[in-house]
Amino acid sequence: MAKAKILVVDDEDLIRWSFEKELSKLKYEVLTAESGEEAINKFKENPPDLVLLDVKLPGMDGLETLKEIHKLKGDTLAIMMTAAATVENAVKAMKMRSVVDYLCKPVDFEELKVVVENALEIYELRKEVKSLRDEKRKPYSFENIIANSEKMKQVFDTVSRVIQSKAGIILVQGESGTGKDLIAKTIHYRSERCDNPFMEINCAALPETLLESELFGYEKGAFTDAKFLKKGLFELADEGTVFLDEIGDMKPSLQAKLLKVIENRYFKRVGGANDIEVDIKIIAATNKDLKKLVESGEFRADLYYRLNVISIYIPPLRERREDIYPLIKHFLGEFNKNFKKNVKDISPDAKEILLNYNWPGNVRELKNVIERAIILSFEDIFDQSHLPMELLQDYKKEEEKIIDITLPPDGIDIDKIEEELVRQALSLAQGNQTVASRLLNLTRDSFRRRLKKYDLL
Ligand SMILES: Nc1ncnc2c1ncn2[C@@H]1O[C@H](COP(=O)(O)OP(=O)(O)OP(=O)(O)O)[C@@H](O)[C@H]1O
Ligand SMILES: [Mg+2]
Repeated sequence: MAKAKILVVDDEDLIRWSFEKELSKLKYEVLTAESGEEAINKFKENPPDLVLLDVKLPGMDGLETLKEIHKLKGDTLAIMMTAAATVENAVKAMKMRSVVDYLCKPVDFEELKVVVENALEIYELRKEVKSLRDEKRKPYSFENIIANSEKMKQVFDTVSRVIQSKAGIILVQGESGTGKDLIAKTIHYRSERCDNPFMEINCAALPETLLESELFGYEKGAFTDAKFLKKGLFELADEGTVFLDEIGDMKPSLQAKLLKVIENRYFKRVGGANDIEVDIKIIAATNKDLKKLVESGEFRADLYYRLNVISIYIPPLRERREDIYPLIKHFLGEFNKNFKKNVKDISPDAKEILLNYNWPGNVRELKNVIERAIILSFEDIFDQSHLPMELLQDYKKEEEKIIDITLPPDGIDIDKIEEELVRQALSLAQGNQTVASRLLNLTRDSFRRRLKKYDLL
């Protein structure tokens, strides 16, 4: 760590002088001020990592000074200094998160050393926690969600409103890979709950009883294997968010228990007698059509209506093709960084294939295709040879497409043109003759005949 900077604020010359001497010996950079006003000016010029503040100062007192300092830099830590008679004030000040300790005058220099070291350690830890939290939040910043199409802009708009609101239950629906997870985490990490827990569970992955104890927790002795008390997700996520993924797969008996938690905001652990109150936001997601599940009796209607108050539907990628190219560019950026590559763009043929593909696996499939292409490509653009076979197979030029060829006045050798097209089809299909023959709208046999003719077998 660079030399820590400490600002000592005290109206007694002797204290400022002796602190400066002692703290400089410990290799800290020391600034001093004899009043709150001077401290604020010094702070503006050269903000320190830690402030040692006398509680009693002429003019603006210690606490007022600290409040002003916080307006300049909210995470500044302080140690209050006080004479024995005013210890109470210093102790009161410690209720503030930024006041980490206090020193009683006359100050013992050994104690000063320990208290300053501890405070700076807290400062470093808080800085680290903040940077880790920011890092965790980063993927869920709005710039990282691509929403070019009108449909996604609307989704985006709803998400922004939900974030600003106090909505406690949100349902996110959409096919697999459309971005439900991304939206759920964005709602949490962009909301005021962002520093509190985000607990997620996949309702399809666990048998019913296990899912119940994961959600509600259990008391010691609730069942044979319950050797210890275990807190469930609802309890652990207090003041945060619970993400219930694949809610459509939850069994009806558990659905009833979930509805009770949503309505009452309290629940009992399995085998427990006491109600546990929680403050949680619930985000449920599913790739199934919940309404249809209600009609077929697999999903409780009352829970569906409770969940469906604020619902976000993410359309499949094939219904919002304007997002495809911006997503490609976005993932190029991401994977270039991850793999230290510099693939700037895609070739026009690859672009045509990607823009026309049906994307049954939605954004996830597109992301995987780009990742693969970046790994395989050593040029600064990638082309169709870097795309997986199923995309090439799927790609058929529109039949009515007008072929943009003009016969030159001198005529041409039609065999040469045919040979060139056969070669291109083979290369596009990465040597797969069945795929290549389809690209030329030929049967496999007539394609093979041409291969023989042009000595390409
Ligand atoms: N609009 C978008 N912008 C950027 N990345 C996106 C977008 N939508 C989805 N992604 C990315 O695509 C991948 C798949 O998204 P996600 O996991 O959120 O899908 P899902 O709907 O939860 O799928 P499943 O139903 O299979 O759980 C993730 O890596 C996600 O970050
Ligand atoms: Mg998901």
